[in-house]
Amino acid sequence: MSPLAVTRTLPADATTAALRADVAHGLTRTPKQLPPKWFYDARGSDLFEAITALPDYYPTRAEREILISRSADIAAATGARTLVELGSGSSDKTRHLIKALTGLHTYVPVDVSESALAAAGEALLAAHPELTVHALVADFQQGFALPGTPGPRLLAFLGGTIGNLLPDERAAFLRSVRDLLAPGDALLLGTDLVKDEATLVAAYDDAQGVTAEFDKNVLNVINRELGADFDPDDFRHVAVWDTEREWIEMRLRARRELTVKVPALDLVVPFAAGEEIRTEISAKFREEGVRGELGAAGFELREWWTDEAGRFALSLSVRT
Ligand code: SAH
Ligand code: AVI
Repeated sequence: MSPLAVTRTLPADATTAALRADVAHGLTRTPKQLPPKWFYDARGSDLFEAITALPDYYPTRAEREILISRSADIAAATGARTLVELGSGSSDKTRHLIKALTGLHTYVPVDVSESALAAAGEALLAAHPELTVHALVADFQQGFALPGTPGPRLLAFLGGTIGNLLPDERAAFLRSVRDLLAPGDALLLGTDLVKDEATLVAAYDDAQGVTAEFDKNVLNVINRELGADFDPDDFRHVAVWDTEREWIEMRLRARRELTVKVPALDLVVPFAAGEEIRTEISAKFREEGVRGELGAAGFELREWWTDEAGRFALSLSVRT
């Protein structure tokens, strides 16, 4: 079994510098906002895994159903020798794909969560000792280079994580993904679909309160990294469906008027009672919208598969 190779694409202090910039900007603007990538320290990654098992949170089960039924088609269509996965997390669903890709030489999981990458990489190597696993600790919204590995390449972006980017961020992201690939390489994209409001709100404000814990974890990260004094109990987790923009917004709403100190930034942040921080958007999609966004970025959509209940889609596109 070859050892797990891990490359950090960022200098050790880059994460803190980026967090400082995002907090300084996001908590001094109106309305307040924070980027969702800061949920995922080791505890946040564990909380996300717990979310995927909740009865209310359907996307993971729906996408797994599609992967189980379509992985052989994906393998036949792509003949991939390198599989790159962005925001790979636990890589749990990816196992179905890896098993089907019989000519696969290298798997390159890319994630900001070093703990998730290490656990996933070790587990995959134990199951596939012949596979080369080259994990990249990187922010997929910043430029990064892929290791020189054999083509053809298949780049997977699963879970519906593309929906956590704003529309202009999505366009820039998809163009950067295109630039990582050669003509004829493939993109496998998971997108959650527009559906009724009750199902969506329940998925993002589950009955067990795990999503509320996940949402509030960003406050723990800021406390630990920047010495802030957020009390997570001062905030209520809310999930709101925006009918026009067709996205869920997760927000943390101050239960009372309060101030928070962020010593590392020499910042005092006032909150009015009821004031909110937007912590995540989770956009939901329709086939024509996905086809259009992919086309604008230089991909041609070839396959569109949904689960039986039509909740989630997996699309396979070719880089033109
Ligand atoms: N793909 C997995 C995990 C989805 S959770 C699944 O489908 O279940 C989202 C993952 O993306 C987390 O592991 C998180 O750490 C990672 N992530 C979020 N923002 C990121 C960014 N900007 N760059 C790299 N990874 C990111
Ligand atoms: C990672 N991403 C696709 C999840 C989502 O559904 O938008 C993150 C999440 N937020 C709350 N629950 C899960």
